[in-house]
Amino acid sequence: MKSKNLIEIKNLEFYWNNQDEFKIQINDFSIQTNEKKLILGKSGIGKSTFLNLICGMISPRAGDVYVLSQNLSSFKAWELDKFRSENIGVIFQEFNLLDHLSPLNNILLPCYFTNKDLNRFKDRAFLFGKKLNLNNDLLNKSNSKDLSVGQKQRIAIIRSIINKPKIILADEPTSSLDFDNKNSFLDLLFDICNAEKISLLMVSHDLNLKNKFKDVIAFESFFRP
Ligand SMILES: Nc1ncnc2c1ncn2[C@@H]1O[C@H](COP(=O)(O)OP(=O)(O)OP(=O)(O)O)[C@@H](O)[C@H]1O
Ligand SMILES: [Mg+2]
Repeated sequence: MKSKNLIEIKNLEFYWNNQDEFKIQINDFSIQTNEKKLILGKSGIGKSTFLNLICGMISPRAGDVYVLSQNLSSFKAWELDKFRSENIGVIFQEFNLLDHLSPLNNILLPCYFTNKDLNRFKDRAFLFGKKLNLNNDLLNKSNSKDLSVGQKQRIAIIRSIINKPKIILADEPTSSLDFDNKNSFLDLLFDICNAEKISLLMVSHDLNLKNKFKDVIAFESFFRP
């Protein structure tokens, strides 16, 4: 199926083997180029599961997920790893940096799935580091365990865009931040998405994020049978 949508979901059903009451059903959902969407829903409703379906970490029981008009079910596992790392940036709740790697190597993690020259990505990492006030010495530190929360945020943003993805999936990236940090994190993320023409899909339970997005969806109303 060819489509102008960046992401398109059709007649999707998903449930876990060991969970009777939990089920996601999405008949029709799409995200277009340059869109920024926020999906709000309470804890346990299925937000992270939904993002994992979009990036192909888990497969639907029925229905289809298309990213850039490609049906994720048509990929072999290694093709999916490559496709994901080239097209989808992910920002995890708590940022998920590996402490024992340098900040630079944390940023470069998604690049190991592509067969492009790593040096190009290093230049991009240092360039964005400079833009976001993280100098080369900091990026080259031997590990990432002593970074401040603000530094971790910015490393996580750079990691999500290092491969020039078409879309960023952000899973409650602001949940551990206070009001001011939350605002500056979102402003930074929006600026980069605008400058790099990257779409954004964020999921959260935080109603305060509502007025930052034009496009807000309640998980309950759209994703449940
Ligand atoms: N790997 C798994 N195996 C089985 N059940 C799971 C698994 N991961 C999540 N679940 C279940 O799926 C449901 C949705 O979980 P999910 O993590 O998607 O919710 P969420 O909306 O992201 O919650 P939160 O806001 O707390 O992060 C929950 O009932 C959870 O117990
Ligand atoms: Mg979650």
